[in-house]
Amino acid sequence: MTIRAVVKGVGHYLPENVVPNSYFEDKLDTSSDWIVSRSGIERRHFAAEGQTTSDLATNAAKAALENAGLSGNDIDAIVLATSTADLTFPSAATMVQHNIGNTRGFAFDLQAVCAGFVFALTNANALIQAGSAKRVLVIGAETFSRIMDWQDRGTCVLFGDGAGALILEAQEGTGSTDDRGILSTDLNSDGSYRDLLYVDGGVSTQSTGVLRMEGKEVFRHAVEKLAQTAHTALDKVGLGSDDVDWVVPHQANIRIIQSTAKKLGVGMDRVVVTVQDHGNTSAASIPLALSVGVANGQIKQGDLVVTEAIGGGLAWGSVVVRW
Ligand code: UT7
Repeated sequence: MTIRAVVKGVGHYLPENVVPNSYFEDKLDTSSDWIVSRSGIERRHFAAEGQTTSDLATNAAKAALENAGLSGNDIDAIVLATSTADLTFPSAATMVQHNIGNTRGFAFDLQAVCAGFVFALTNANALIQAGSAKRVLVIGAETFSRIMDWQDRGTCVLFGDGAGALILEAQEGTGSTDDRGILSTDLNSDGSYRDLLYVDGGVSTQSTGVLRMEGKEVFRHAVEKLAQTAHTALDKVGLGSDDVDWVVPHQANIRIIQSTAKKLGVGMDRVVVTVQDHGNTSAASIPLALSVGVANGQIKQGDLVVTEAIGGGLAWGSVVVRW
């Protein structure tokens, strides 16, 4: 008997304030044409003043619970991937736990920047396989608008705020790749690339800091490492590109998404793309794209879905799940 972490529900939340590229045109030496042609981004959402990551995460969690037909106390564990938690502590996950009325589970944050949701899914899968939890709420939520340098045109036009959530439930499988649920995972990191993408402040330096990125270098690593990690995850369970129904990539740049799909041998008609509407929402980008993909009828039960992401660290990875 194999225990599988099966998707029971999905949901997302985007702040009301939609910011088009034109917003930046009179503030910076940039143009909507440049942003669209270099990144594919047309608009992004920014959280309202006072709206925090746990607020966004709570709304996404409630949407996922409703989608699954569950209530807060049906959840055993909450794993929240974020690099922009409300406070140094307690975790944003425990705030969500309280907000959804969960009084019996456990909750914690996990930080792997833009790869955070892939790391969170892998950890949730491990909790379920170890018997530590039967139902896990996995969230990716960010307010990257709080860590932007608004004078840096190379970064501030790229990021947005949002949250997505998934509920995983332990179910018995046969052990074959026909099973629903998480089939395979692959995680990587290499701290020698620390200076390519980082925030120049933090608790230990007594500041908040702003995001710094060597865009071109990160781009180069992304194109090389994303297809590699997705292939590794598929290989582990004897699956190939032809078996894939949907690639749901981290939404940082349409050119990275396209070249990764090409390397994977998957046509763009099998890739969920939301970067034009959300910008780069870091750990929230994959659950947002999963939720949008389900809502618009792309991803259906039984489909083989491959997620892949890379971000600061560098940290990167992939999860293969039969929906
Ligand atoms: O989520 C974590 C992972 N992050 C990523 O995956 C991001 C990876 N990187 C990228 O997506 C791309 O590298 C960017 C979108 C950040 C930049 O695109 P690029 O094609 O690599 O452009 P570049 O950095 O080489 O810049 C080309 C030119 C430069 O001018 P010069 O030096 O050629 O005169 C930049 O200064 O474009 C300039 N530039 C801009 N121009 C207008 C940079 N930002 C802007 C801007 N508007 N906003």
